[in-house]
Amino acid sequence: MPLEPTGRHVGFPTTRLRRLRYHPGVRRLVRAVDVAPGNLILPLFVRPGRGVRRPIAAMPGHDQVSPDLLAEEGRRIAELGIGGVILFGIPDTKDAHGSDATSRTGIIAQAVAQLKAAVPDLLVITDVCFCEYTDHGHCGALVERNGQFDVDNDATLEMLVRQAVVHARAGADIVAPSGMMDGMVGAIRGGLDAAGFSHLPIMSYAAKYASGFYGPFREAAESAPRFGNRRTYQMDPAAAAGQAIREVELDIAEGADLVIVKPALAYLDVIGAVAARYPGVPLAAYNVSGEFSMIKAAAERGWLDEQTVALESLVAIRRAGAQIIITYWAKDVARWQQA
Ligand code: PBG
Repeated sequence: MPLEPTGRHVGFPTTRLRRLRYHPGVRRLVRAVDVAPGNLILPLFVRPGRGVRRPIAAMPGHDQVSPDLLAEEGRRIAELGIGGVILFGIPDTKDAHGSDATSRTGIIAQAVAQLKAAVPDLLVITDVCFCEYTDHGHCGALVERNGQFDVDNDATLEMLVRQAVVHARAGADIVAPSGMMDGMVGAIRGGLDAAGFSHLPIMSYAAKYASGFYGPFREAAESAPRFGNRRTYQMDPAAAAGQAIREVELDIAEGADLVIVKPALAYLDVIGAVAARYPGVPLAAYNVSGEFSMIKAAAERGWLDEQTVALESLVAIRRAGAQIIITYWAKDVARWQQA
């Protein structure tokens, strides 16, 4: 048989690709990707108080919870074999500089300490960014330029370093800067090293787009910008995929240990490009709130089967090249696989 793909002996009837599909065992045997709970990270939203559990309307099945309830939640997550959690904090008081984020008694510092004390084996990642903590809802300190407010890159770097060190001291296992400031990974790496945390990995949101798919998250984290948008720091969806490669390249050079592409489903090409270019760097994709909520909403109307479509989405993200997926379906996946 000739090996060239277009040879006349290669086609039907000799070649019958359905042979790989008749037997369920053969289908399983030739699967190239799977979705294992150990590769999934579950986002959790924490707010101050005791015994507080507030449902997030746009994300059925997800709640904002107080740190004391996080312990019980964490135990369940660990039992399900989920890879880790990423924490987002909603403070009681917000101000121009997001002081709660850099305070040792801030919501995330409390949450991490309580969670690690209760469930030491659960991997705890913290989101390092200011949008949930500032009264204006932007991801850092503001500066006025030509009558317009914008996030001050270099002033924000110092704040991010303080926030990351507070998280590290509270017991975070990985810090994940998501503010898309230039130089944020290098600054945080330097700050962590100086504070005695040279062993602590940085998982950088390297290629994060200014996306409409974050809509439900902004309700969950109460972090919508009060004015304007995030287009001067998050990436333009229409930019060349090569710009994402440059973002990833810089973050790796600055010391990122793992990188994130976000969102996932509308950016599978970006995931593929990053995976092909940096096969040695663990790549995570963030299957964001909008990607979750739109499937939930369609499923509630009976238009889609949630389990089928959720797993199909996660498989697609893995097939594109992400090893790790941050997803609101992490617990569901573990349960579906146990059933
Ligand atoms: C910023 C941050 C955002 C998300 C994760 N980290 C929101 C934003 O950039 O506005 C979105 C996640 C999601 O939509 O699930 N701290």
